[in-house]
Formats: sequence, C-alpha cells, structure tokens
Amino acid sequence: MKKLVTSFLILSFSIICAEPIVPIPKSINYDHKKAQLGKKLFFDTRLSKNNTISCASCHNIYEGGDDNLQYSFGIDAQEGNINSPTVLNAGFNFRQFWNGGAKNLQAQAEGPVQNPVEMGNNFSNLIKTLNNTEYKNLFAKVYSNGITKNNITDAIAEYEKTLITPDAPFDKYLRGDKTAINLDAKEGYELFKSKGCIACHHGINIGGNLYNKFGVAKATHSKRLGRYEVTHNEDDKYYFKVPTLRNIAQTAPYLHDGRYNNLKDVVRFMAQYQLGRVITQEEVRKIVIFLKTLSAPVKEIQ
Ligand code: HEC
Ligand code: HEC
Repeated sequence: MKKLVTSFLILSFSIICAEPIVPIPKSINYDHKKAQLGKKLFFDTRLSKNNTISCASCHNIYEGGDDNLQYSFGIDAQEGNINSPTVLNAGFNFRQFWNGGAKNLQAQAEGPVQNPVEMGNNFSNLIKTLNNTEYKNLFAKVYSNGITKNNITDAIAEYEKTLITPDAPFDKYLRGDKTAINLDAKEGYELFKSKGCIACHHGINIGGNLYNKFGVAKATHSKRLGRYEVTHNEDDKYYFKVPTLRNIAQTAPYLHDGRYNNLKDVVRFMAQYQLGRVITQEEVRKIVIFLKTLSAPVKEIQ
C-alpha cells in the first residue's frame, strides 16, 4: 500500500511538474521498403533537371541536416533567398517550410523538385527519366502503380520520418540520467524557461509546433513576409514557424535570412527582439551551453 501511495505521489508530481520539452522517441514506426527507396531518391542528383543537385546537397544529414550556408545554391549555381532548415526530426514539425506552406513532409517534397532555383525539374520529366533507370523495378516492388508523383514524394517522406536524433545529452537527462549534462547546461535550461524562451520553443522539437512573429518586442528587418505569403492575411505578416532548436549547434547560420553565424548573437537577439529583455553575458553563455546539449547524430536506416 505504502509503495502504491508513493508511486501515486511520484506520478502526480511528475504530471504537475511535467517538463515542457519532450525527449525524441528512441525509435519510430515506418515502412522499411518505402524508406529505403526514399533514401536512394534523397541522395540522387537525377532528381534535378541537370543531374547536379540532390536533396542531400542542401540537407547534409550527417552535419546537422542543412548546408551551413546563408542561402542555398541550386542548379546552375543559383542562390536562393531563405536559409535551409534542418531535415532532422522534421517529421515532428506541425507544418513544413518557414512560412508553414506545406502541410506535411510529402507535400513539402514536391517543392524543391519544381523550384526553379533548387532542382529546376518537373514531375512529368522526372517520371520519364526515372522510368528509364533501375527505379522502374524498384518502384514496382513497393508501389503497385509504379512511378508517380505521389509515390516519389511518399517514399521520400517515409525516409525523412526516420531521420531522428534521439540520443542528445539533454534527452538522456530528461529520461533520468542526471549526469548527462553539466551544471552550466542545467542552469542554462532554467534560464531558457525563466526568461521565457520556452513560451515559443517547447515540445518534442523545442519549436516546430506554432507560428510566431519575427520581432515581437521590437521590429526588425525581414527579407520575407512569413505566413502572409501563404494566407495573404495582413495579421500574418512576419509570422514564421518557430524553428526547432534540435541540433542547433550544427545549423549555423541562423534565422530565416541566416544573418547570424554564432549562437551567442542569436540568443541575445531573441532576448531583445522576441522577449524585450536584455540578458547578461553570463546568462547568454549558459543558455548556449544548454543549446549545445540538444545535438545527437542521426539514427539513420541502413
Ligand atoms: C537548393 C537547396 C535545396 C534543395 C536541393 C532541397 N532543399 Fe529542402 N529546403 C531548402 C530551403 C532553402 C528550405 C526552406 C524553404 C522555405 O522555408 O521557404 C528547405 C526546406 C525543406 C524542408 C522543411 C523543413 C522545415 O523545418 O520547414 C524539408 C523537409 C526539406 N527541405 C526537404 C527536402 C527534400 C526532401 C529535398 C529533395 C526532394 C530538398 N529538401 C531539396 C533547400 C533545399
Ligand atoms: C515569441 C516567440 C519566441 C521567443 C520568446 C523566443 N523565440 Fe527563438 N525563435 C522564434 C522565431 C519565430 C524564430 C525564427 C525567426 C526567423 O528567422 O524568422 C526563432 C529562432 C530562434 C533561433 C534560430 C533557429 C534557427 O534555426 O535559425 C534560436 C537559436 C532561438 N530562436 C533561440 C531562442 C532563445 C534562446 C530564446 C530565449 C532567449 C528564444 N529563442 C525566444 C520565436 C521565439
């Protein structure tokens, strides 16, 4: 009985004190055959019009899931106008793209193939190309109707679902290993909550689950209009999807226009422009140490 009461107390305590950040699950369910096909497509430059660019060109899954450039370069060395976000853990985002323009990973995957400054291709051309290659048989084994736009994007999305990073030191800490992060990181996490970062960056992806205004407390210049680009509603101007902070130490430059190269600058910027408060150098330092505990290698399929 006593044991029961104790577990009840512990249970209610952990519900009341539930952490606003949730660890990434150790594994997820996915269709292995589709994901394998999707992986091959993800790394294949034949998706682009002139065989030069693959998804992996702008999303290096072994180095943070982005390309470490302010703006990406697509076919014919054309430069884009928005920073490439990470694809790692993207399956946990409630929408895809900075402006939330794609409702899920499958819808997102249509974009780059047809974007003139990314892969510059179109689906009827791509389907023709792939039907003249080994993909004809590979698709036939997985999809009864062979190579279609829907099946190409479905396979890629299934692969992207697998790109999770479950073993970050901070996740180990949340799962109960109190020594997984050091004292500075623990204090940094407390500051992240007490200063208000947590209001926008929370949940499984520490972001990725809401839109918010870029420049809440103080206006800042913005190259893009955010959510407004999708809805054309005045109130949505400069609202962007709050990005994930997972693997953030690997994904500089930061913000949708890649304006900062280091975490210290972006943390200071967030405090000032999103929260309207100045934080000390020491506080910035600890928050950065906390942010660095959010990285882990991708758990990729074979
Ligand atoms: C030329 C560089 C480039 C290529 C090639 C490219 N991407 Fe991207 N990707 C980007 C950029 C830039 C964005 C952000 C665009 C935006 O939000 O407006 C993005 C966004 C994404 C997102 C959304 C992530 C989020 O958090 O919103 C996913 C997922 C993604 N790409 C997957 C892919 C896949 C799959 C392919 C191949 C079919 C691909 N990308 C090809 C540069 C690229
Ligand atoms: C009111 C909501 C809000 C608050 C509060 C907030 N952020 Fe953000 N954060 C955002 C949005 C929105 C972006 C994306 C801005 C853009 O580039 O369009 C962002 C971007 C970031 C980035 C860059 C991510 C990337 O991939 O480029 C970091 C790092 C970050 N925030 C950390 C913090 C920290 C640390 C705090 C607390 C000091 C904080 N944020 C407070 C909404 C918020």
